[in-house]
Amino acid sequence: MKRIAVLLSGRGSNFEAIAESVRAGRIPDAELTIVVSNRESAGGIEKARQRGIEAVVIPSKGKQREEYDREVVALLKEKKIDLVCLAGFMRLLSPYFVQEFRHRILNIHPALLPSFPGLEAQKQALEWGVKFSGCTVHLVDEHLDAGPIICQAVVPVEDGDTEETLAARILREEHRIYAEAINIVLSGRYRIEGRRVLRTD
Ligand code: GRF
Repeated sequence: MKRIAVLLSGRGSNFEAIAESVRAGRIPDAELTIVVSNRESAGGIEKARQRGIEAVVIPSKGKQREEYDREVVALLKEKKIDLVCLAGFMRLLSPYFVQEFRHRILNIHPALLPSFPGLEAQKQALEWGVKFSGCTVHLVDEHLDAGPIICQAVVPVEDGDTEETLAARILREEHRIYAEAINIVLSGRYRIEGRRVLRTD
């Protein structure tokens, strides 16, 4: 049984999609063991507790990046976590964190990376005028929204789109591909060549 941790700072809809996929057996042989948030106010904390999943708040305010990450890593190790899923976790991870869970940390980003990294990706896409955007699940390295890509999905940008309508269209795909990416990584049926993640099944 592989043990998954979700790290989040907000609403937690990706957490819910992952939890639901685990519950329904779409992510086989896995357990969503713990949710960690740096913000007490994160909606995802309440959602986790309603599902009977342990949810821990470790406040980040006033802490150095690595000092904070050491606390989180200690908890994840204590819980024997195999895979860390960042889902709206609004913090850059320290090299320490990345090394402790090398190739075992995933992130989801609401754009087709390497386009529009960072904050407000949907707004960036609209302002640039792209006709398609989407979402990306990638392995986390020391850089922001930068590691090797596991899965992407494309959505059209419609003329009438606002940030909200585009974000909603992308979010549906996020929920779908996050579970797919988790399955690929947990099954171990991939290899990394340079930046490319290649399926081996
Ligand atoms: C998602 O759009 C995700 O791609 C981005 O932050 C948002 C989190 O949403 N990294 P939620 O908290 O999972 O609902």
